[in-house]
Amino acid sequence: MKKDGYVLLNLHQESQTFITSRKSLWRSWNQLSRLQRNLICGIASMVGCLIIIYHWRSGMRESYDVRSHKYEGIPVVTQRDFGMFERWEPKGDPKALKFESNVIEEPEARENFKKRVEPLEKPKVEEVLPPPQEIREEKLLNFTLAVNDKQKAVISAFKHAWSGYREFAWGYDHLKPISMKPHDWFRLGLTIVDSLDTMYIMGLTEELMEAREWIANGLNLNKYHDVNLFEVTIRVLGGLLSAYHLTNDNLYLDKAKNLGERLLPCFTGSPSPIPYSDVNLASHTVHSPRWGPDSSTSEVTTLQLEFRDLSRAVDDPKFENAAFKVSHHVHGLPKTDGLVPIFINPRTGQFQSYTDIKLGARGDSYYEYLVKQWIQTGKTIDFLRDDYVEAVAGIRKRLVRRTPKSNLLFIGELKGGTRDFVPKMDHLVCYLPGTLALGYAHGLPEDHLELAEDLMNTCYHTYSERPTFLAPEITYFNLQNDGKSDLYVKMNDAHNLLRPEFIESLWYMYQITGNTTYQDWGWKIFQSIEKYAKVEHGYTSIGNVNNPEDVKPRDMMESFFLSETLKYLYLLFSDDRKLLDVHKFVVNSEGHPLPIHKS
Ligand SMILES: *[C@@H]1O[C@H](CO)[C@@H](O)[C@H](O)[C@H]1NC(C)=O
Ligand SMILES: *[C@@H]1O[C@H](CO)[C@@H](O)[C@H](O)[C@H]1NC(C)=O
Repeated sequence: MKKDGYVLLNLHQESQTFITSRKSLWRSWNQLSRLQRNLICGIASMVGCLIIIYHWRSGMRESYDVRSHKYEGIPVVTQRDFGMFERWEPKGDPKALKFESNVIEEPEARENFKKRVEPLEKPKVEEVLPPPQEIREEKLLNFTLAVNDKQKAVISAFKHAWSGYREFAWGYDHLKPISMKPHDWFRLGLTIVDSLDTMYIMGLTEELMEAREWIANGLNLNKYHDVNLFEVTIRVLGGLLSAYHLTNDNLYLDKAKNLGERLLPCFTGSPSPIPYSDVNLASHTVHSPRWGPDSSTSEVTTLQLEFRDLSRAVDDPKFENAAFKVSHHVHGLPKTDGLVPIFINPRTGQFQSYTDIKLGARGDSYYEYLVKQWIQTGKTIDFLRDDYVEAVAGIRKRLVRRTPKSNLLFIGELKGGTRDFVPKMDHLVCYLPGTLALGYAHGLPEDHLELAEDLMNTCYHTYSERPTFLAPEITYFNLQNDGKSDLYVKMNDAHNLLRPEFIESLWYMYQITGNTTYQDWGWKIFQSIEKYAKVEHGYTSIGNVNNPEDVKPRDMMESFFLSETLKYLYLLFSDDRKLLDVHKFVVNSEGHPLPIHKS
């Protein structure tokens, strides 16, 4: 009681002083002349404006992750769909970049958007297109004629991943297998679309039928939502086209055409042949990534297989023409021994020549699609092959080094501006041996295969030297002759997203050379995935490949784990090396096989 009384008294005193000081302030204000008062008001509102502008600008400057639409530490509201607003909020330590999305429904905004946004075309699911000749003549392949025990283990892994996704994230892009929640990125059910052909190849008919049902009735492409042209092309367009070719089911082709129309504005809306990186699927507004004016070189040059295939399948050249213009244009740009900087500007059509040259992120699949386009078009377009062969020579000349200790061959990077060599290799680069072997299988020089074999060995070391037998995202190489280990990993690079690139190369190398060592390596890696990445409701990316006691699960199952990693493992373990024959199919950058044409 006493305590309460004291507080009351104290409060009373404080409010007394407050009232007195307010009164005297008001008195002083009234004593000022009108000019003085106006002046003070003016200054106050200017300061207000400056504060608002400052906060806005500093918000813009914060590093922005375009993949996940996150600003570091700053909650961001983005418009999604029709009046669906999503707020990304940091959870716990903002540095750890753990965000959770709270989707807020705003019915009024939803109605307004609906009025503003005219659908591009009514989805015509039922319409049956005339059968495209070339494909129809081919027999459907049977991938499950003889399935061995290792393949059965991979099928079980797929079923395990799928059942977690089906239960907790159905229709969303990804599953967070530990928190048992969905994760959305483009809102296109990525895991489903990416898995269609894997299910066909594994003979999972029931699962495929359920997925088809969702494609028919759940996949809405008329989304008021910005998507990345490249990612949606390789995953969704590629996934739909591949499913169409394997099953001859026109539903997939209809959806692919509808999507192609929505992606096309990236090309038609650009003043140069270089497309913008992002497009709104419903309003068709295009723009550069939020973090800068440029498109990634690998992104704009990794669309052509899919757009060409779409054009050929629906018999309308506009998709192929738009995408192939990029290849022609890039062919004419100045390069460094066939190697390209990782950024290119859609307004000027020129490379940002001061940016990095590398075969990892943002550079990788430029080289891949040169040779794959050449193969897709029946080896009739010489400049694609010539640019590729020149680039491989450039890689040898400028990017290849060996470690002094064990003579491991690796591919480094040239830093932007200075062109200093950095002895660092992304796991992504481990796609290259497969591509080199593929070119060799189609008649390119034998030394391409030799380079591939050397690089396979190094990529294998990035797995085998880690106590988990899983490779980190990035590996550094020791160029000093100091007796220390050849490879080392920085703390921030020690994660593993269950990426497919090395498994993909193992499959190409096995098919093309027949060497079963590549199967053995793949089996070891698959067992590590089972041991460290499998959780009760799926498979998860891990944060640390260096500590078998605590791999720091990241609670994310990427769609490429189902579309690529597991598919390539299944194909790799087949007793029939040519189960998916590289002389009949060209496989896109997301593991989706497309037919090879005569020209
Ligand atoms: C493929 O072969 C397997 C094993 O003989 C058979 O069970 C399956 O029905 C076949 N699938 C098709 C699509 O013919
Ligand atoms: C198969 O590949 C492994 C690893 O590169 C190599 O050591 C081995 O000699 C190869 N075997 C044959 C028969 O070429």
